[in-house]
Amino acid sequence: MKTYNITGGPQEASAIILGCMRMPALSACEAVRIISTARELGINYFDHATCYSADGEAETRFGETFAKTGIRREDIYLQSKCGLCFERQEFDWTKENILSSVDDSLRRLKTDYLDVLLLHRPDLLFEPEQVAEAFDILKKSGKVRWFGVSNVSTMQIELLRKYVHQPLIFNQLQFSLEQLQLIDQALYVNNLTTERSVSRDNGTLDYCRLHDIRVQAWSPLQHGMFKGCFVDDPAFPELNKALQEVADRYGISKTAIAWILRHPAGIQPIAGTMNPEHLRDICDAVKAELTHHEWYQLYLASGKFLP
Ligand SMILES: NC(=O)c1ccc[n+]([C@@H]2O[C@H](COP(=O)([O-])OP(=O)(O)OC[C@H]3O[C@@H](n4cnc5c(N)ncnc54)[C@H](OP(=O)(O)O)[C@@H]3O)[C@@H](O)[C@H]2O)c1
Repeated sequence: MKTYNITGGPQEASAIILGCMRMPALSACEAVRIISTARELGINYFDHATCYSADGEAETRFGETFAKTGIRREDIYLQSKCGLCFERQEFDWTKENILSSVDDSLRRLKTDYLDVLLLHRPDLLFEPEQVAEAFDILKKSGKVRWFGVSNVSTMQIELLRKYVHQPLIFNQLQFSLEQLQLIDQALYVNNLTTERSVSRDNGTLDYCRLHDIRVQAWSPLQHGMFKGCFVDDPAFPELNKALQEVADRYGISKTAIAWILRHPAGIQPIAGTMNPEHLRDICDAVKAELTHHEWYQLYLASGKFLP
């Protein structure tokens, strides 16, 4: 497995992360299997959130089963996110909610520290001073080692950075060959003939690269918002044909992960599969270092055109 040394953060973190959002659907036995398979494949980084199923069931399933895998806690990076409170129909970055969410995550995951805590989607009423107080407490108590954000744009990160003492070292964003808004605008800038020239996030990718904030890509194989996996979906014939050509050339399975890994920002795709065979296929992507030309061929096959 390819690994990254994250500036000011985890060292030798696997390039591919296992996302645990879909873990509640698994039996305990299946959960042990997918965690163990991930580790065998070299994945040492696991992504959670308090909101993955009611009462944080994804974290609970992981916590119940992790000890049975025989993997040592110190050999993995555990990341969770807080702030999305679907049951209350609000987003909440208050000090109280951040602190209680971390305590809940630690209890459910059966661990006494998180390697990384991300603030999930922005709370529109957030007060950066409160975030700063919460992070100071979490850092001092040893409950959280490193901090970051998810789905947060440049100016909000700037606002946080004015108050928060710890570096923000991750931003987890939606990015797949079918959801390209993170990069499209750079290509079509100032172009009145296409919607793609509209800036949706104020240059978040470049901002993150500039400030050593590692981008993690959520739902790397989904089209739309959780509409399904585009790999092998007949609704995406051109893309699948191009993916197959690349797969054949490198002797890997047809996934779109190699395309994400080729980006020089060192983006970490978060694979959400709970199927060990699919995970093997996905991890095979690290064997392929796509050429500049192949990367563009896949970009164009996703339905884009060059301006
Ligand atoms: N920060 C955020 O706002 C946010 C939002 C959403 C998700 N996330 C994170 O991102 C992670 C990944 O999200 P995701 O689960 O949507 O990602 P994904 O990897 O794009 O999609 C996973 C889904 O695709 C299916 N799949 C994968 N490979 C397949 C194949 N070869 N053929 C058919 N189906 C295939 C999986 O089914 P099988 O299990 O059957 O393989 C699973 O249902 C989550 O677990 C979570 O950690 C973060």
